[in-house]
Amino acid sequence: MKICCIGAGYVGGPTMAMIANKAPDIEVRVVDMNASRIAAWNSDMLPIYEPGLDEIVRKARGRNLHFTTDVRGGIESADIIFVAVNTPTKSYGVGAGRAADLRFIESVARTIAEVATTSKIIVEKSTIPVKTAETIKEILAANARGVKFEVLSNPEFLAEGTAMADLHEPDRVLIGGERTPGGEAAIKVLADVYARWVPRDRIITTNLWSSELSKLVANAFLAQRISSINSISALCEATGADVDEVANAIGKDSRIGSKFLKASVGFGGSCFQKDILNLVYLCEHFGIPEVAAYWESVVKMNDWQKRRFATKIVRVLFNSVSDKKIAVLGFAFKKDTNDTRESAAISVCRDLLAEQAKVMVYDPKVPADEIRRDILGVGKDDPRLMVATSAYEAAKNAHAVVIVTEWDEFKTLDYEKILASMVKPAAIFDGRNILDLAKLKEMGFRAYGIGKC
Ligand code: UDX
Ligand code: UDX
Repeated sequence: MKICCIGAGYVGGPTMAMIANKAPDIEVRVVDMNASRIAAWNSDMLPIYEPGLDEIVRKARGRNLHFTTDVRGGIESADIIFVAVNTPTKSYGVGAGRAADLRFIESVARTIAEVATTSKIIVEKSTIPVKTAETIKEILAANARGVKFEVLSNPEFLAEGTAMADLHEPDRVLIGGERTPGGEAAIKVLADVYARWVPRDRIITTNLWSSELSKLVANAFLAQRISSINSISALCEATGADVDEVANAIGKDSRIGSKFLKASVGFGGSCFQKDILNLVYLCEHFGIPEVAAYWESVVKMNDWQKRRFATKIVRVLFNSVSDKKIAVLGFAFKKDTNDTRESAAISVCRDLLAEQAKVMVYDPKVPADEIRRDILGVGKDDPRLMVATSAYEAAKNAHAVVIVTEWDEFKTLDYEKILASMVKPAAIFDGRNILDLAKLKEMGFRAYGIGKC
């Protein structure tokens, strides 16, 4: 059996590395049109940082795991083709700012139709609007010369930073397909691949649309929990309650559960906002604006939370940060990843720069040019934006230290040393509630968290 995955990104790379490790008899080829990304996958410096990924790539690479730019060759020889290309939010025309831009999916489908000479199973791994499988099927049917394609939906539920553990022991694997004999047979082929390491009772099969919709709904529900606790964090700050105590108390109720109740400066990542906006667009399209408005409020609350955090920094620093140096610790959208897509740090830094602050960012895994590009845009520069190589360098002569990402190393910094190097009165804003505020206050910091007084 041969598998090809189109798209060597955060989803395609780790997922295929796991399959190649668990099924040494399956030939796995990961193809991508981005030559430098493929070169990185073939080097010692993988293009994405994910704990545990290096080891498993090293084990299978060159054996039954290959990374190449030969998209056509990969398609031609494969029995199963995973599509894991990115599906950004449309930035133009109808549905701009909400609908998913499907041009990569479409172009991949056209290439498959053009190249394939034997029957194949096409697996949608990218998160896409409901009914995308239909589009893919139409394109394949229009171009193929008698070749049979089955299209499956197999959404990815891995979270970055814990991708390898999530892939190794998934809560569930979801496979959607057509309820026809051909569809059922294709579902079985894919289920058998996962069954090599995932217990059968965790492999759920559904119809295509249920599977596509479930991915959007899972992310919408997860994000909703964060927006809900973040809304309460504002109330905690106003009343003197402590949001971590509230989260702990409600999370003990087994009907609510303890996960995804950590108040923060706001959720980021490539999926949550995009998938909710997708859901919103879908609801509007189907004439249910009430449902659209309900889910859109989850994103609005998140935007408000990010702005609220930046506004608080300005207020505490005596209503002006103009020409004051502010150290921003962490830039990735969460710890243990170098991914910065939709990171709360981007909007916090932009807000501070708009207030004419001097911002010095430090992140252990995100390169400096990526930080500049995310905040300022491609090829732009601003002398007030600087990037440090350590937290201590960032904090030196700063009026405030701002924690945006919960990297473990920020928990064990020498805050006495940091305080000594800062302009007084020194402030610290913990956007992740990872520090002991009482202790910092004792040291002499003006210390603030999320949902804490
Ligand atoms: C995944 C999912 O696929 C996406 O739907 C989800 O919303 C976010 O997570 P991810 O792996 O994180 O995407 O995206 P990215 O890291 O951008 O990787 C996509 C890769 O596909 C890129 O390396 C890009 O070069 C490649 N690509 C894109 C192609 O090879 N061909 C194309 O036509 C388009
Ligand atoms: C998410 C889903 O968890 C995953 O199942 C899906 O496949 C892709 O989208 P990911 O975006 O990688 O994964 O990370 P996740 O751990 O869900 O975190 C998303 C954001 O929410 C991060 O910015 C994180 O810091 C934030 N978050 C998470 C909180 O602010 N509080 C929490 O309690 C949990």
